[in-house]
Amino acid sequence: MAADAGAPVGIRLEGVSAQFRHRVKGLVYAARDVTLAIAPGELLTLLGPSGCGKTTTLRMIAGFQEPSAGRILIGERDVTRVMASDRDIGFVFQSYALFPHLSIFENVAYGLRVRKEAAAGIARRVGAVLDLVGLAGYERQLPSQLSGGEQQRVALARAIVIRPRVLLFDEPLSNLDAKLRVQMRSEIRELQKRLGITAVYVTHDQEEAMAISDRIAVMSRGEIVQLGDAETLYRRPASTFVAEFIGRSNLLAATVESVAPGAVGVSVAGARLLLEAPGDGLGQGMAVRLVVRPEAVTLAAERPGALAATVRGRTYLGEKVEYELETAGGRLQAVIFDPPEGGTFPPGCRVAVQLPTRGLQILPETAS
Ligand SMILES: Nc1ncnc2c1ncn2[C@@H]1O[C@H](COP(=O)(O)OP(=O)(O)OP(=O)(O)O)[C@@H](O)[C@H]1O
Ligand SMILES: [Mg+2]
Repeated sequence: MAADAGAPVGIRLEGVSAQFRHRVKGLVYAARDVTLAIAPGELLTLLGPSGCGKTTTLRMIAGFQEPSAGRILIGERDVTRVMASDRDIGFVFQSYALFPHLSIFENVAYGLRVRKEAAAGIARRVGAVLDLVGLAGYERQLPSQLSGGEQQRVALARAIVIRPRVLLFDEPLSNLDAKLRVQMRSEIRELQKRLGITAVYVTHDQEEAMAISDRIAVMSRGEIVQLGDAETLYRRPASTFVAEFIGRSNLLAATVESVAPGAVGVSVAGARLLLEAPGDGLGQGMAVRLVVRPEAVTLAAERPGALAATVRGRTYLGEKVEYELETAGGRLQAVIFDPPEGGTFPPGCRVAVQLPTRGLQILPETAS
């Protein structure tokens, strides 16, 4: 096959930093002491808000940006000082960066021509990758005659035709409409798995990250703050930052009342709860946050001793109802799936909020 990359390789970043001189702030870190091991064949996503250092980290892997400290290894090879063109990497940018005056065939063939491949081999390989990305027959078109999704497929074809050992993606889907983004992300994922190429993918879209990745590295201010698969990040966020960045969450202020093996008693908004939780690092009297996902909340008629709330807003969406609730401990979002007919709670209504007693993440106040 045209894009057979051979055995996949791992990537290692060891204490990698990028420092820039800012006119006002002086020396600032765009990436700081990033240490990361990406497994052969893995698709790892760098996820985080704008300016957190995703592109900078990717550019250092690509060789477009020299680290101010640390080492980068691709396979067993230290590439820290190796030029981008000698790193065997395919790069897909947000702007497709196609040559507007060249045909689709020549756009894809470009990397092979630079490598001085023979014409017959080029024709065969370009044909094969265009087939692979669903663009057979588009060889003679110009980029301006293609839709955004098609242009991004050309960019993908151009990246894989050189049989890179690593594929890097920087927000490749952000110029596409919502529906096409969903379609293209599964195409990219499928292709990456089929080719078995190790890939690093950058996005600020948490849903895209969860859908496409083996693992996600969440970044904040130049640092990796948590690394894990989608479920771990959703279920076990290590900080309020991750809890709020991955999915929607309620961060309820609570006080620890008791800690026993496997059981943590808390008081939250005037109610008492006994949670099934390890309790490591928790002590009586400690201020904590409970990470409560909106879909984990259930509502019932008001009753004494329960966590009481007033319905402030109700949005009926068919398969679910979204509630905006007010408790003594602050606002709370709840999502109830498949609500029974006529069984929703109207605004102004007082309700009892039931929180699950297992599976809740308890974060010390300091884990911001
Ligand atoms: N060449 C440069 N000179 C100075 N500062 C830079 C340079 N490149 C990046 N920075 C700064 O480093 C920080 C991280 O930038 P980076 O482009 O890596 O962010 P990002 O996570 O990719 O953001 P976005 O989601 O907006 O693309 C930013 O504060 C940026 O201003
Ligand atoms: Mg960026």
